[in-house]
Amino acid sequence: MTISALKLEHLIDIKSLDAEVISRIAERALEIKNGAKPSLQAGKHVALMFFENSTRTRFSFEMALNRLGASVYNFETSKSSLSKGEDFFDTVNNLAAIGFDACIIRTSEERLIKRTLKEVENGREFFKNIALINAGEGTSAHPTQALLDFVTIKEYFKDLIGLNLVITGDIRHSRVAKSNIELLSRFGVNIKCVAPEYFKDETLKNVVWCENLNEALEKADIVMALRIQKERIQGIIEFEDYIKKYQLNENNFPKNCILMHPGPVNRDVELSSGLLNSKYGETILKQANNGVFTRMAILEAILGGCDV
Ligand code: CP
Repeated sequence: MTISALKLEHLIDIKSLDAEVISRIAERALEIKNGAKPSLQAGKHVALMFFENSTRTRFSFEMALNRLGASVYNFETSKSSLSKGEDFFDTVNNLAAIGFDACIIRTSEERLIKRTLKEVENGREFFKNIALINAGEGTSAHPTQALLDFVTIKEYFKDLIGLNLVITGDIRHSRVAKSNIELLSRFGVNIKCVAPEYFKDETLKNVVWCENLNEALEKADIVMALRIQKERIQGIIEFEDYIKKYQLNENNFPKNCILMHPGPVNRDVELSSGLLNSKYGETILKQANNGVFTRMAILEAILGGCDV
C-alpha cells in the first residue's frame, strides 16, 4: 500500500495541512523506514531551487527523490535568468512548460510560495500542474522540518498528548520553531519557550514563555535547541552572556529528556560539545535520517505514489 490515496497539491505550510494528513505522512515515513517499498509514478522531474544555503534539507530531498526514481535537477540561481530580472512566477511557469512536475524551494523571502500560488488563484495559469514545495521560507515556515521532527518524536513517545516540549534559542528568527509550534500544539504537546528578550516572539500562540532556562527545563520531556541565525540579525549579539544563560550542556540537561536540534548546530554556543558528543546528541542525527523518509512520504503524496 502506498499513500497514493493521500493527494497533496502543494506543501506550503503546516497550517494548510489537516491533522489526518500530518498523521498519515508520519505513518508512511515510518513504514518506509521500516522497509515498505516506496514508489513514485514513472517519469517525474523535480527542480531543487535553493536560494539559501542548506545541507540537510537539500540533500535529504535529493536522496529521497533518487530513492523514488525521480529525475532531479539543480536550479543554479546565479546562472538562471532570475539574475536577469525574470519574475519568479514566470520562471516556475517556464519550468512547468519544460516538463517539470515540482519545484522544491528554499528562500529568505517571506510568502514567496504563497504569493506565487495567489497569482494562480487570481487567474494566471501554469502551463501544466506543477507542485510547489516549501523547503524553508524566511523566518516563518519550514513544514518538512516540522514533519520530520514529528516523526522523530513519535519514535520515542507513543502518545504526544501532554508531552512537555521546551524550545530554546533564537525563536524569533526560527521558521523551524514556528512550524513545530503550529504542528505539535495541535497534537496536544505543551510548549514552553525560553530565550533572551532579543530572541523572543511574543506574537506566537500556544506557547508559555519562561524567564530562565532551569525553570523551563523542569518537567521537560523534549528540549529543542535552535541556532542563533546570525545571517538574519542586525546588530551585535552578546555571545558570552547568551552562552552563560542559555547554553545546554552536560550539567543542566535533564537526564530523561530527548535533545533535538534541526541543524546546523553551532558547537559550544547553543549546545556544548560535551552534550552534543554524548548519547543525547544521537537524536539530532536521527532527525537528519528521518528527513529522508519523511520527504519520501511527502513526495509520494504530492507526485503520486503507485500501488505496489
Ligand atoms: N534543518 C535544516 O533546514 O538544515 P539545513 O539548513 O542544512 O537544510
